Amino acid sequence: MIKVLVNGAMGKMGKEVINAVNECEQTTLACAVDIMGDGITILKDLKSAIESTKPDVVVDFTQPSAIFENAKTCLNSKISVVIGTTGLSEMQINELQRLSKETGAGCFIAPNFSTGAVLMMKFAKLAAAYFNNAEIIELHHNQKKDAPSGTAIKTAQLMAEANSCFTLGNCPETETIKGARGADANANIHIHSVRMPGFMASQEVIFGAMGQTLKIRHDSTDRKCYMPGVLLAIKYVVQNRTFIYGLDKIME
Ligand SMILES: NC(=O)c1ccc[n+]([C@@H]2O[C@H](COP(=O)([O-])OP(=O)(O)OC[C@H]3O[C@@H](n4cnc5c(N)ncnc54)[C@H](O)[C@@H]3O)[C@@H](O)[C@H]2O)c1
Repeated sequence: MIKVLVNGAMGKMGKEVINAVNECEQTTLACAVDIMGDGITILKDLKSAIESTKPDVVVDFTQPSAIFENAKTCLNSKISVVIGTTGLSEMQINELQRLSKETGAGCFIAPNFSTGAVLMMKFAKLAAAYFNNAEIIELHHNQKKDAPSGTAIKTAQLMAEANSCFTLGNCPETETIKGARGADANANIHIHSVRMPGFMASQEVIFGAMGQTLKIRHDSTDRKCYMPGVLLAIKYVVQNRTFIYGLDKIME
């Protein structure tokens, strides 16, 4: 049985992770930690919670300003960590990779734990080799602060690895209203961002060629969509105690 400490336990993602850990036959909840905890049923201090409950792995869904210190606390205690919290810089990721190697504790970072979104990106890369025209439409709730989404940027990067020149054959274009053609990302792939209530996180990649279009679409309608990926990461990192960036690396 894998003992899991959930950090950020009172948050939207933390609550889902606790449910998923309780429902999975191979995992059990070692401890719940949150700075907003009451100190009794939910502990407040990660380091002392690790020392007293000795988990096999910590799952962190807290906040960007806290994640680097949290991850260092886990690794320095030789406890593997699964990181869903976003906002780590490239330098910080490199430092965590170094620390994971030095301490022998695993570190699994994934900006997107949705298995469907990872497959959408893989399928888009596959299709990109066969189409010279592709655009991405990403649709999110209206409380999302950044645009385009990290997933859209990552999708365009992967597609550009398979095909370096998109939007071929279009006539010279003039935008009569600025932004009408979206943002020009990698390899001329245009990204369009929609923000409104009613969506959680969706993305459609549209490919076009003479006489055919192909649409690859993924919709996240509930935070539960992240849980199969989180559980995969927990099991992987406990077994392998290594550094991994991206759920795609274990979904070959
Ligand atoms: N990787 C993914 O697939 C994925 C999916 C969804 C959300 N996220 C990310 O996960 C993070 C959390 O998202 P959320 O929607 O659950 O946020 P949330 O605000 O609902 O929850 C965060 C929780 O963490 C607690 N917290 C903050 N700092 C802490 C600290 N230092 N120690 C312990 N607890 C702390 C807060 O009190 C809160 O209860 C965000 O960075 C978000 O972008 C990642």
